Amino acid sequence: MISEYPKEVTLRDKTAIVLKPFERKDKDALLAFFQRMPEADRLFLKDDVTDPAVVNRWAVELNYDKVFPLLAWRGNDVVADATLHKNLGGWMKHVGTIRMVVAREFQKHGVGSILANELFLHALKSGLEKIVAEMMETQEGARKVFEKLGFRQEAVLHGHVRDQIGIRHDLLVLTKDLEEFWANIQTHEYFSYPSRDREGG
Ligand SMILES: CC(C)(COP(=O)(O)OP(=O)(O)OC[C@H]1O[C@@H](n2cnc3c(N)ncnc32)[C@H](O)[C@@H]1OP(=O)(O)O)[C@@H](O)C(=O)NCCC(=O)NCCS
Repeated sequence: MISEYPKEVTLRDKTAIVLKPFERKDKDALLAFFQRMPEADRLFLKDDVTDPAVVNRWAVELNYDKVFPLLAWRGNDVVADATLHKNLGGWMKHVGTIRMVVAREFQKHGVGSILANELFLHALKSGLEKIVAEMMETQEGARKVFEKLGFRQEAVLHGHVRDQIGIRHDLLVLTKDLEEFWANIQTHEYFSYPSRDREGG
């Protein structure tokens, strides 16, 4: 499923980046990326990603069927990290969650949109039926990235998260129903999308 990587992509400003899934050997580059990042951009991540033990655990437990981590590289530096989290069993087996973070100096260059699109296609190929993205109401960039892909706000959890100075914010839950997406594709017979491989369930 990941034979398409590494993939070179040219940004709007003509900078070339390379997309490649995280591998064990990349853990130092990934840790350096997180350690360079301002705290505000790391807020929504569930773990303390500046802790080498956390990144090391991801490397040890790497399983693309559970978490598919796609990195954007500029030379030897990681400039963005996007993950698709799947549930291997249970009542949310059909649901995937996307998280992503782009290095400050690469934000607003289209990297987030490119990565969201890649993970969206990956979710389609995995047979997921619904994708979720969560963000604070202040994270306009994140909202825009997902709305461009057709995600819609499904829920607001009021005062649910705190920012780095302790102020509470609403958490927006944006979702995209892939069952609906496939139904529309079949109805309209658009252009060719990756074949629907229902290996996930
Ligand atoms: C959210 C994030 C991933 C977006 O990545 P990005 O590479 O900047 O996104 P893009 O360049 O593809 O921008 C997509 C659109 O959003 C707009 N945008 C990006 N950041 C923005 C911001 N802070 N405010 C308003 N608009 C913004 C861009 O101008 C672009 O608009 P366009 O398509 O009309 O040109 C990045 O800002 C980030 O890492 N933020 C911190 C962590 C975070 O919020 N993660 C999301 C949780 S899932």
